[in-house]
Amino acid sequence: MALGCAAASAQPKLSQDNIPEIVSALSTEQKACLVVGFNSGCEGYDPGIPGTGGITYPIPQFGIPSIVMMDGPVGVRLESDWKDGKGPVHFMTSFPTGLLTAASWDRTVAYKLGQGIAEECLSVGADVILGPGMNLLRNPLCGRNFEYFSEDPLLSGSIAAAYVNGVQDKGVGTSVKHFAANNQEVNRLDADSRLDTRALRELYVRGFEICLRESSPWTLMASYNMLNGTYTQESHELLTDILRGDFGYEGLVVTDWTGKRNTPAQVHAGCDLFMGGMKVQTEHILQSIENGSLAIEDLDRAVTKVLELIVKTPAFRGNNPDYQPDLVSHAKLARELACEGMVLMKNNETLPLQPCRAALFGVHSYDLIPGGNGAAFIECPPVVQVYDGLKDAGFSLDDGLKRLYDGYAAFAAADVALNHKIPVHVGKAQKSELEITFDLIKSVEKTSDVAVITLGRVSGEARDRSLSKEFFFSKEEVDLVKNVCDVFHAAGKKVAVVLNICGAVDTESWSNYPDAILCAWLPGEEGGHSIADVMTGKVNPSGRLPMSFPLDYFDFAGAFDFPYEFKGTRANESAAHPERRGMDPKNISFTDYVESVFVGYRDLFTAGKSAAYPFGFGLSYTRFIYSDIEISQSGENVELDVTVTNVGQVAGKDALGIYVQAPLGRFERKPLCELRAFGKTALLEHGQSEKMHFTIPLRDLASFNSELSRWEVAEGKYVFRFGADNSNPFVTKAFKLSTPRNYPVRRACEPKNK
Ligand code: BGC
Repeated sequence: MALGCAAASAQPKLSQDNIPEIVSALSTEQKACLVVGFNSGCEGYDPGIPGTGGITYPIPQFGIPSIVMMDGPVGVRLESDWKDGKGPVHFMTSFPTGLLTAASWDRTVAYKLGQGIAEECLSVGADVILGPGMNLLRNPLCGRNFEYFSEDPLLSGSIAAAYVNGVQDKGVGTSVKHFAANNQEVNRLDADSRLDTRALRELYVRGFEICLRESSPWTLMASYNMLNGTYTQESHELLTDILRGDFGYEGLVVTDWTGKRNTPAQVHAGCDLFMGGMKVQTEHILQSIENGSLAIEDLDRAVTKVLELIVKTPAFRGNNPDYQPDLVSHAKLARELACEGMVLMKNNETLPLQPCRAALFGVHSYDLIPGGNGAAFIECPPVVQVYDGLKDAGFSLDDGLKRLYDGYAAFAAADVALNHKIPVHVGKAQKSELEITFDLIKSVEKTSDVAVITLGRVSGEARDRSLSKEFFFSKEEVDLVKNVCDVFHAAGKKVAVVLNICGAVDTESWSNYPDAILCAWLPGEEGGHSIADVMTGKVNPSGRLPMSFPLDYFDFAGAFDFPYEFKGTRANESAAHPERRGMDPKNISFTDYVESVFVGYRDLFTAGKSAAYPFGFGLSYTRFIYSDIEISQSGENVELDVTVTNVGQVAGKDALGIYVQAPLGRFERKPLCELRAFGKTALLEHGQSEKMHFTIPLRDLASFNSELSRWEVAEGKYVFRFGADNSNPFVTKAFKLSTPRNYPVRRACEPKNK
């Protein structure tokens, strides 16, 4: 079929006020073009910015420009030109990744991150950043966990909303992704996530619901996977009944970058824009309208959403071609934000360190992993290494070790490139650790006061991590920690480990050895400075774990129901038809979420299992106490007051979680504790207090009754636990609700989004 997207004359020009008029004036062919990404099959296609995720179809005679969507979510993924093979020409800032942002437990951190990213979008002419990514951390091995926020939907949803508000307050759009239950990368295009309605409502769409309550993302991305046998992109129940109906979402739904599927079913379900876009999808829409399998009203809805999006964008409002991002101040911002989410996991009177002679071990001390791979990979300026950060902070470092590791890093990179040990979609593969002899450690110890070891783990899109090779550290890595500790401890010297990681890792096999452990996540391009800021006490660590680190991976109820040891190469390809390859389709073709709502800390805590490091855990160089706790009911809300006082010696911030244990009501089981509110104090000086106030709507204490399709708040005693770490509350207080409440799925007065 030939597409007639050619000009017509004297047409109305698009404005904010005439969208219905434009929709009536467009031909069916033009409409079918507009809802499919402008692609290489279209005349005049020009992707514009290198690395563009996708652009929309322009129709100049109606004043409809093409708009640009860029990845996302931890910065602008500009695909750089390379100059004479020497290095990229354009850089964008590699900001700290999602997990670190969530580990700040601070909405202002996510907001500032959003602002920085939006400024970079404006500088390259991008209209929408393809982020935040906010799928729930169902399993520690999901390859994209580093992009996401938490195993808890409240933390995920609120941090995501702050990111959205930060970006959009600068006039750039966001795309909250990937809706929904997209929790593994193996067979990511087709895997069927099978879960019960309660888990869906309480966990997997709950974060999105919260995000939409606290912000108004211009776009939302429908995921690749299936949900209970239906592609999410074809699910009317998910995209229309739940998303638009129950959550009141008014923005645009874009497909994750899928080729042709059942296009009319997708439009009918609620997809408004098909990205990256294929000519065949436009043709499919036209055929479906012609043969009656797609109603023109559905197409008009999609067209309206596309136009409503376009009129908000910089491309429509008029890009400022001279807009330059201030990369220097963004580097400072990246440094500041990264400090906010670093988690001090162990500290045996070791940190903060005064500048001294330090021996730096581990390949990642010299080759820090700033971010992860895939859509989130950022081509950034040279990364500040742990070595650089400590050197700039006044440490004297062993240069022999630096030469050794620099040489090894080059070899390890070449080795990975040649042997493709761990295939990567876009970005950089994991390097293995260098074996360091006991003798070398001993000789370095003689001229050092302290040792710092950096252990790294990277992951990315299209691959999940393997349990044996990537959750656990290798023998070389564990031996390095053990041997360095043996030698330095024998000389009465301390050892600190820096974790430069994309997600939870095993700590049981080695965490007893070092004196201090700092989790720096994937901290962005300024990581070395931020690590030094925290290690020296310039910044007092206030990050808290946004997920549990288990004692044993198999402690999680859903651990077996995940491709934890997938043997294929590229997860998309090799997994598509596992049964034809003689593979077990379980966890590849489909994954059963057997654990239902018992995910992460909800599971461990309820089952009475300790975590190696529990959800919310994080040490500080100071100490806080809580007092003057008041809990009262006011109408449909619970009001809470708590005073946080810094009783230690140095200034610091405290992240406070409020966990609730609800009475069972009609439910057989409920998690014994669920995060229902959180906040972070300002920087409190020694002796200083802050009074914090929280309002928790009663509805937010509810569990979802799937049979009756409603939220139920049982009557009885609610136990509120105040503290950072869910398993170790500082204070527990009870509150009694005398009458039960039932709430419909559809919120009466929501959304309050702008
Ligand atoms: C990823 C999305 C990304 C898109 C565009 C997809 O493969 O799943 O997260 O935004 O590509 O690059």
